[in-house]
Amino acid sequence: MKILSIVGARPQFIKLGPLSKEIRKQHDEIIIHTGQHFDKEMSEQIFYDLKIPKPDYNLKINGGAHGEQTGRMMIKLEKLVQDIKPDAMIVFGDTNSTIAGTIIGAKLHIPIVHVEAGLRSFNRSMPEEINRIIADHTSDLLFSPTMTAVNNLVNEGLKDKTFLTGDIMVDALSENVEKINNDSSIINRLNIKNNKYFLLTLHRPYNVDDPSRLNLIIKKLGIINTSIIFPIHPRTEKVLTNNNIKVGKNILLIKPQGYLDFLALINSAEKILTDSGGVQKEAYILKKRCITIRSETEWVETLIGGWNRLVDPGNNDFIKQVISTEAPEKHQYIFGHNVAKKMVTIINNHLTKN
Ligand code: UD1
Ligand code: UDP
Repeated sequence: MKILSIVGARPQFIKLGPLSKEIRKQHDEIIIHTGQHFDKEMSEQIFYDLKIPKPDYNLKINGGAHGEQTGRMMIKLEKLVQDIKPDAMIVFGDTNSTIAGTIIGAKLHIPIVHVEAGLRSFNRSMPEEINRIIADHTSDLLFSPTMTAVNNLVNEGLKDKTFLTGDIMVDALSENVEKINNDSSIINRLNIKNNKYFLLTLHRPYNVDDPSRLNLIIKKLGIINTSIIFPIHPRTEKVLTNNNIKVGKNILLIKPQGYLDFLALINSAEKILTDSGGVQKEAYILKKRCITIRSETEWVETLIGGWNRLVDPGNNDFIKQVISTEAPEKHQYIFGHNVAKKMVTIINNHLTKN
């Protein structure tokens, strides 16, 4: 089969890595990068770290409001997909690149596989929540990472298309975490000590687009005694710079990191502070306590046993929660194994060429 994978944002490259490798054992794969993420650290470095072949096409569409960004992607994708004539398309997660792909694929009657289907925060003010619903309802095969995600799809009448595959990020993590001792020198370069710092990432619009909210988070974290390593997302960096928000002396701002360096930073951290979906899971799998700066999470399994906690920076006990040393309960393994293989088997069984 000729399989077209569409990606555009950092977490999608990471999900593509192990699946692309597995697809290429049996099928022809073409990769379209929409260009949504484009800085070297956000894109090229991740392709390099995960050894993903260079995209066949880069649409170079980034920035702009949601409708504009998605619309510009769709205009280019429509023409390209008609030229490529794939037998199936694969889209990942919940970004604007995901829905640009699914809407075009569905209208051109190309079978679509949605990887990471069924996630719901039940908070429609998140752009991702709208994207997830559109992607799930326009796709033909829905690959869910967890039973919670499966149940969400069953509740929306999508049971017949849904498969519990496990989380593809597990494959990326397990293949790459073994390499960090040899291939990452970030811990030495930053001269940081094992288990003596917190790792921070922030990029959700509701945390970072309002400068007063971002300032509140940064100010509160700036008064604690622990060092905080903060690889800053370009969205967040813009707001910080444009509003001249100063960070405390305990916070080390660094560029976004490559995948291996970032895994090394998680692996040596005492605790993770984040609003990222992927980072919450990686923290859980690597048995790191996580503070999620959000009021809800799609990854509810990570909350079991207190490994992950949802905290509100506006609350008086925010810092108390951040520095709490309370030990979590026994760890349960929940995200599956050998996920790429399972996905390709399902694709083979359900989308074989007529
Ligand atoms: C996007 C996804 C979000 C995902 C996140 C992963 C949507 C609606 N949002 O959010 O679901 O969690 O990616 O990181 O699709 N920028 C740069 N350089 C880059 C990338 C982005 O300067 O390499 C700038 C953009 O020009 C834009 C801002 O950062 O001004 C936000 O980028 P955008 O891709 O629109 O949204 P994200 O916040 O990255
Ligand atoms: N990540 C990375 N470098 C960084 C920060 C994160 O490689 O500096 C990886 C991280 O390991 C995870 C993914 O990016 O696999 C998460 O992406 P992001 O937080 O941008 O998006 P989300 O998962 O919230 O959609």
